Amino acid sequence: MTEKKLHFGIIGFGFMGQTHANMITNDLDYAEVVAVCDINKLQLENADASYKTYLTADELLTEETIDTVIIAVPNHLHLEMVKKVAAAGKDIICEKPAAMNAEEFAEMQRVVAEAGVRFTIHHQRRWDKDFNIAKEVYQSGTLGKTYTIQNSLYGFNGNMHDWHIYPEFGGGMLYDWGVHLLDQMLYMVDSEIDTVYATVKNVINKDVDDYFNIQLQFKNGVTGQVELGTYFLSQEDGWFERHWFLGGNEGSAKIDGFHPQGEITRTTDLLRNVPGQITMTAAGPTRSFGPAPEGRIVTEPLPEVNTQHRDYFDAYYDYITGKGELVVKPEQILRLMKLMDAIRVSAKEHRSISFE
Ligand SMILES: NC(=O)c1ccc[n+]([C@@H]2O[C@H](COP(=O)([O-])OP(=O)(O)OC[C@H]3O[C@@H](n4cnc5c(N)ncnc54)[C@H](O)[C@@H]3O)[C@@H](O)[C@H]2O)c1
Repeated sequence: MTEKKLHFGIIGFGFMGQTHANMITNDLDYAEVVAVCDINKLQLENADASYKTYLTADELLTEETIDTVIIAVPNHLHLEMVKKVAAAGKDIICEKPAAMNAEEFAEMQRVVAEAGVRFTIHHQRRWDKDFNIAKEVYQSGTLGKTYTIQNSLYGFNGNMHDWHIYPEFGGGMLYDWGVHLLDQMLYMVDSEIDTVYATVKNVINKDVDDYFNIQLQFKNGVTGQVELGTYFLSQEDGWFERHWFLGGNEGSAKIDGFHPQGEITRTTDLLRNVPGQITMTAAGPTRSFGPAPEGRIVTEPLPEVNTQHRDYFDAYYDYITGKGELVVKPEQILRLMKLMDAIRVSAKEHRSISFE
């Protein structure tokens, strides 16, 4: 058996705490779970017999062999737990959204710096396959000058559940999925953001958001759009998954679904200053929006990528053992938290916010 190099403790043994424990135990030969804790003892019944179990974080933190603690409690408790873990001198992987706002996150940064512990956030969606295809399409420049990147995610279930229905616990879709979608956009587009405009709504839910549409005007000319609706219905195949659309001046790309399908689409030649051909459509004659003449539209396959969520832990392991740099950097997350704050102001005041 390979000697284990990472020894994890997990605070909060609910959905995500158990997901982490399963991956560490089943998939990572360099890591082990030493102990888990949860205030709800029923959750601890799901723990593997090899884990020690505790009802409080304080007890778990007395385990000397733990070197990294994963914080997987509801969002409003992240700061409190980061303080406890830092005081115990252990490295930290905190679940997303890292904090309730940028001010809280800056406090976390101060606390971990003072304690001298390593600190990162679990943004494993940087390894989503569909995202990495979109990133590769954008960064390779194959579309020419990209002017729009649209990222959308739709669901049918409407209602939020458990603690996600309470704003004071960090409920709502902006905290839940928005933070992933925005992190991906910031990680992909290497440019400052000029302005942010956001619409955030409660469609089905009384107190927390379940729809948002956010526009980011990057200084390099890209408009990033992120849209999510939990009650956004269509019968179209694959609708209730994620969709990417990238538009450039030399082609477009469409990437659909978490097991992504799609293509790059181009015209056989760029029709600059060529008089349009009139076609008749149900909406009347048009030179721009009718069907393309036979053979004018061509497609190419999307690039292949081979990423998976365990890569997050592999990258963390490389960082801890000095073989690689930290991928999810606190300074990136501070920017993300500031962006989330700006989005809330924009949505509340119905105005565009100058960001950077
Ligand atoms: N990265 C991802 O893809 C992803 C996915 C889901 C959830 N999350 C994040 O993980 C965190 C937990 O979400 P979840 O879906 O697992 O919630 P959950 O409700 O399923 O689990 C949270 C657990 O924390 C426990 N808990 C609450 N207060 C505690 C305390 N003081 N000490 C110890 N345990 C306590 C609860 O009893 C519960 O079992 C959230 O921050 C959430 O945003 C991340």
